[in-house]
Amino acid sequence: MPTTSVFGAQWGDEGKGKLIDRMARDADVIVRYQGGANAGHTVVVGGEKYVLHLIPSGILHPGKLNVIGNGVAVDPLKFLEEIEGLRKRGLHVDGTGLKLSSSAHVIFEHHRLIDQLSERWRGEGRIGTTGRGIGPCYADKAARTGLRVSDLLDNDYCRSRLRAALAEKNALIEKVHGEAPLDLEGQLDRYTALAERLRPFVCDTGALVRKAYKAGKRILFEGAQGAMLDIDAGTYPFVTSSNTGANGIPAGALFPARHIERVIGIAKAYCTRVGEGPFPSEQLNEIGERIRKQGNEYGSTTGRPRRCGWFDAVAVRYALEISGADGWIVTNLDVLSGFETVQVATRYKSGGGERRDWPADLPRFAGLEPVFQSFPGWSEDITQVRKYAELPASARAYVEALEREVGAPILMLSVGPERDQVIDRGL
Ligand code: GDP
Ligand code: IMO
Ligand code: MG
Repeated sequence: MPTTSVFGAQWGDEGKGKLIDRMARDADVIVRYQGGANAGHTVVVGGEKYVLHLIPSGILHPGKLNVIGNGVAVDPLKFLEEIEGLRKRGLHVDGTGLKLSSSAHVIFEHHRLIDQLSERWRGEGRIGTTGRGIGPCYADKAARTGLRVSDLLDNDYCRSRLRAALAEKNALIEKVHGEAPLDLEGQLDRYTALAERLRPFVCDTGALVRKAYKAGKRILFEGAQGAMLDIDAGTYPFVTSSNTGANGIPAGALFPARHIERVIGIAKAYCTRVGEGPFPSEQLNEIGERIRKQGNEYGSTTGRPRRCGWFDAVAVRYALEISGADGWIVTNLDVLSGFETVQVATRYKSGGGERRDWPADLPRFAGLEPVFQSFPGWSEDITQVRKYAELPASARAYVEALEREVGAPILMLSVGPERDQVIDRGL
């Protein structure tokens, strides 16, 4: 496998975890480069379900190197909790197979608290964040007031920086939000103690990954969230705070862009979104409810019901274009079994005209309406199908319509949550 980037091409939860786990068989190194524990990547192996938040989805394969890069916002509590959870289930996780960047920014309790308080402050204008402290942590990174993992490991330095940071955050918590400030000494003791437990995992992951590349190792970059939640390319301000596609790799893993040899987007056969913000093909009706029910569409991190709608070819076309994808993978095709007709938004109507390209300024396109094309559905259970030719003819026609509309080859189809529920088209 060449150096490969796998990213979400919709609004997250496309099935990245499942596909990364599957593709990790043929990789040596699996790297997360952005986001944090806002992600929830589900992997199902032999009926056992694992939901990974910070740890790369290659962790279920023994002998692989799993890397959390410098661009990830790391909550030490969540990181350690996740390791413990995996160990309890019999997995061997230690500093040999899992590495944490010394340059990754740390999410503290005040980040989580301020994330939640800011959402409350925004009221109707809320983003619907996961409340995991992602935005406030990346804001501190950009403001140069954050602390990195290496800072946490240096006890004296950490205490002085955290003391200074908390003084300001506590003023915000108390004076703006009217809540009780965090106990400064308690926080200092807690995080300096946590630092010791991180130490065995910490290294310069950028150097490690570049060295692995030079040694001919096969590297798989695991995106979190999705292109439409990307801070630059997505539906701002209803986005997350990082670059989610292949565009996030050079900065978030300190790995050269020109060495990313293959780029693959992942999209569901329909579309979902959690949280607020534009979603042109959303079905606020019994169709949306049926998709949610058949797809069990509830958030892996927060348990929130996901908003559901038909496949949006305009959005996926755009997502693949900005990351320069070689091809893409369609997941959850099985969920559409039983619909009499299935639909695809192929273009948008706005201001008397029609467009096939993504409107960069979407929230300002009042009255924008998707134009749907209908296709005959199929009633067969396709979860046991492993060969493309064995899919019902109307399912194949649907897949080929998606391929045509998006304009990039569909490399694989996923027909169930299990690792082996995949149809490889051999492209
Ligand atoms: P991620 O964040 O992109 O890794 O996706 P999530 O894990 O948040 O959500 C995807 C959900 O769909 C999980 O519950 C998966 O187990 C499940 N899933 C993945 N692929 C398929 C598929 O092809 N069919 C079905 N029915 N479920 C799938
Ligand atoms: P995975 O990796 C779906 C959404 C939140 C909210 C917005 C900002 O599992 O696909 P944040 O907490 O990041 O500040 O929230 O982004 N969001 C996700 N939606 N899947 C995710 O991750 C998400 N991570 C964040 O719901 O709308
Ligand atoms: Mg998810």
